Amino acid sequence: MRIAIVGGTGPFGSALATRLRKAGHDIVLGSRDAARATAAAKDLGVEGATNHEAVGAADLVVLATKADAALDTARELREAIGARPLLSVASELRFAPSGVLPTPEAASLAERIQAELAGPVLAGLHSLAASTLGSTEAPDEDAFVCGDDLEAKRLVLDAAEGLTSGRALDAGPLASARALEGMTAVIVNLNKRYRGHAGIRVTGLP
Ligand SMILES: NC(=O)c1ccc[n+]([C@@H]2O[C@H](COP(=O)([O-])OP(=O)(O)OC[C@H]3O[C@@H](n4cnc5c(N)ncnc54)[C@H](OP(=O)(O)O)[C@@H]3O)[C@@H](O)[C@H]2O)c1
Repeated sequence: MRIAIVGGTGPFGSALATRLRKAGHDIVLGSRDAARATAAAKDLGVEGATNHEAVGAADLVVLATKADAALDTARELREAIGARPLLSVASELRFAPSGVLPTPEAASLAERIQAELAGPVLAGLHSLAASTLGSTEAPDEDAFVCGDDLEAKRLVLDAAEGLTSGRALDAGPLASARALEGMTAVIVNLNKRYRGHAGIRVTGLP
């Protein structure tokens, strides 16, 4: 599958590109800046292009920009993305003296992105850290994906299957993105409190 990673020059997009390339996918790393994309892509052994060019020929678009820029970037790329499925991995976090907080918005970022795009939006992979995803061993965790379009969700679950040594799990409709994005705040608080690299494994499933 040809996968465009918008904002793929960051640690998460780059780690994801490396794992997906190893799994046999054809990756185009996107950036706002063509030279930055080319340089980052060369290091990873994938293609590089502007975000706009990257999404044009993709089967799946992964939106991996800085979380604060995800909604505006989706709006800017709306025409180029067209009806292609898009996976949002972003979580909006607020840093307060009491700890890390999820967004106060009622709708998840992924649901707000869906309102801007013609194609199906999926949300997932929030609980995987760039550092563990980018390490030599696949992380010993499960990965979660949610979305309303079953065909697009199957596509993303298949791609997510090889990312960890755990399972790629269907976490239900796109409304589950509120919980998945909020879970990032929980994980960051755990990492700060226990100085670790928390991941999630679900028990009790067949
Ligand atoms: N880091 C993690 O462990 C982790 C884990 C799970 C999910 N995520 C999610 O994955 C996404 C990427 O995380 P990251 O840590 O790799 O983020 P990041 O380094 O902060 O940003 C990723 C890329 O976003 C682009 N960007 C920055 N500002 C932008 C703007 N104003 N408009 C458009 N693009 C902009 C930059 O690419 P160019 O300058 O090359 O355009 C940058 O390399 C985030 O949404 C995050 O919530 C991260």
